[in-house]
Amino acid sequence: HAAEKGGYEHFMLKEMYEQPKAIADTLSPRIQDGKIEIEELGMTDEDIRAIKKINIVACGSAYHAGLTGKYVMEGMARIPVEVDMASEFRYRDPIIEEGTLVVIISQSGETADSLAALREAKQKGAKVLGIVNVVGSSIAREADSVMYTWAGPEIAVATTKAYSCQLIALYLLAVKFARAKGKITDTQMAELIEDLKKIPDQVEMLLGNQEKIQKFANRYLAAKDVFFIGRGIDYAISMEGSLKLKEVSYIHSEAYAAGELKHGTISLVEEGTLVAAVLTQEDLYKKMISNMVEVRSRGAFVLAVTQEGNDEVTKASDYVIYIPNTNKYFTNSLAIIPLQLFGYYIAVGRGCDVDKPRNLAKSVTVE
Ligand code: AGP
Repeated sequence: HAAEKGGYEHFMLKEMYEQPKAIADTLSPRIQDGKIEIEELGMTDEDIRAIKKINIVACGSAYHAGLTGKYVMEGMARIPVEVDMASEFRYRDPIIEEGTLVVIISQSGETADSLAALREAKQKGAKVLGIVNVVGSSIAREADSVMYTWAGPEIAVATTKAYSCQLIALYLLAVKFARAKGKITDTQMAELIEDLKKIPDQVEMLLGNQEKIQKFANRYLAAKDVFFIGRGIDYAISMEGSLKLKEVSYIHSEAYAAGELKHGTISLVEEGTLVAAVLTQEDLYKKMISNMVEVRSRGAFVLAVTQEGNDEVTKASDYVIYIPNTNKYFTNSLAIIPLQLFGYYIAVGRGCDVDKPRNLAKSVTVE
């Protein structure tokens, strides 16, 4: 096994470090002559214009990727998107009409509920697109079309690189759909593509912060509860950050839409509670900062993850991690890196079985 880990202590760490390459491999074949080409979609611009609604269906981290996808697709392409957990979608008799595209996201391509949701959607007449990592898996075989995430084999139970590639696949679709629908110009598309191309290097840079995050994590090995807060797209990444932490470290954590805290959860904040606040959206900085001030005044220690240039954040937090600037729709790809490292190092510090956390399976093939 040691050899397979290529010198890394765990598969999870190795796979986090493979993210720049995995992202580049998922992106580059689909960017040609300054345009986004997703041949495997099998859709012309006219077909894209006929899409009236998108249902994204997935489980776990893939579901979180879907939540990000909703913000990006709706914001950029103005197509309504619903996101469901596969285990819920199946049983709510979902409304699938002419012009509905169903997107099933799955690393393994074998998740029982996701596969059953795919079948249900097809039976109701939807066109189904799979965003899948394992080539030839059940979901890949049964979907009408497949867009592969080229992350390579993922061994650690906690997904990192496959999740990052799912985000990229969703961005590509959003930019493509936005252009086909005339919601962005060629110039805007070119700028978005430039920002996409920078992501692998930016991720690489963030992975270089590893020591700083390990040190920080070591201070919180005994934490009982950790809260992740964000608004908008940062709420989606908070959910993924929280899942990473709890699945590998067994520390209870929750993600909250920051504005919702006051409606109940803030009662759990006490002296020393760690609150990780993600704020990458300029139009939401002020609102986030006031939520951070609220938890801090109740004794919370606030770790902030924000875009470079947001200096105001230092006043409302105890520790800041900066991510490089990118388009507002792509910040999740950068903000997740320190959160993955944080979960990993807490788990290592607590002596947990990082690659095979208790009670979990890499792929959930029972319903
Ligand atoms: C994430 O770290 C999980 N272990 C889990 O939530 C996973 O994302 C989920 O089970 C979905 O799996 P899939 O992508 O293979 O369908």
